[in-house]
Amino acid sequence: MSPAALRLAPSPEGIAHAARLLAEGQLVAFPTETVYGLGADARNGTAVAGIYAAKGRPSFNPLIVHVADAGAARAYVQWTATAERLAAAFWPGPLTLVLPLRPGHGIASLVTAGLDTLAIRVPAHPAAQALLRGFGGPVAAPSANPSGRISPTTADHVLAGLGDRIAAVLDDGPCPVGLESTIVGLDGAQATLLRPGGLAAEEIEAALAAPLALPGHNAPLSAPGQLESHYAPQARVRLNATAPEPGELFLGFGAMDCDLNLSAAGDLAEAAANLFTHLHALDALGRPIAVAPVPASGLGLAINDRLRRAAAPRP
Ligand code: TXA
Ligand code: MG
Repeated sequence: MSPAALRLAPSPEGIAHAARLLAEGQLVAFPTETVYGLGADARNGTAVAGIYAAKGRPSFNPLIVHVADAGAARAYVQWTATAERLAAAFWPGPLTLVLPLRPGHGIASLVTAGLDTLAIRVPAHPAAQALLRGFGGPVAAPSANPSGRISPTTADHVLAGLGDRIAAVLDDGPCPVGLESTIVGLDGAQATLLRPGGLAAEEIEAALAAPLALPGHNAPLSAPGQLESHYAPQARVRLNATAPEPGELFLGFGAMDCDLNLSAAGDLAEAAANLFTHLHALDALGRPIAVAPVPASGLGLAINDRLRRAAAPRP
């Protein structure tokens, strides 16, 4: 771990310091309820370029903008009745909405990688809320990990991956949800599930009283999470394993003998919160990882999506 980045406490002084760094165009990692984000002023193209450079991220993969409340979101996107309904039900929280950009929005074009839509969300985490209010502007933030590696759920994960490339990390302990936000596209005729995540699709469908569409096979690469190998540990990952093979570490789910258990009680919210933390911990041991089956309902949809990417062949 490089000591170069400041570790700031979520105190009023720490928040003010982090907000000042953002205003100077520097990169600050901060906790959200989902994962740690790597933040920059979304109106400052040079600062946003720094995010792509620090992560080693392909420039065609656009970023999520974080704001303090739905009122702030309406300054940047063309708001709709469906957006209002979902924002009222789930903001602040682990939901990102993709909407057409509003004229005069002021968001740097590098944030959207040239698209005419913007992914925007209002995080619920108290430290993220305090930072957004202290900064007073839109913050572009992907997950605070080098591109293609496991998403960070603690400040130590952030420092281990990016410690020598960022100004500071606001450290407020582990992220409670542990999975990235669910992304819903509202720029077409029907609300579309672009990425399963920390808010179950079933809950969104209940709020809409309508099913979510799934992206078509011809969806452009601009839809989220499309690089097959993503969330990747260094180690080989084998899925739906009933037992480890010799030399493998075993990541369990439900009551079973294993090296680490996502949730011994078989609870999907607990498993989501543990997923990246346990993958980080097992990966540090340098041996291949076998993973027990996880049911695909509710949050299990997003957990299986992340596991499938962790196990995908590397580019
Ligand atoms: O929980 C989260 O969403 C975390 C925290 C930090 O907020 N952020 C996060 O960001 O997961 P990132 O950059 O790792 O993932 C953002 C996803 C990408 O897959 C990207 O393709 C998609 O959002 N995305 C961003 N803008 C988009 C747009 N205009 N249209 C479609 N997808 C978009
Ligand atoms: Mg990410």
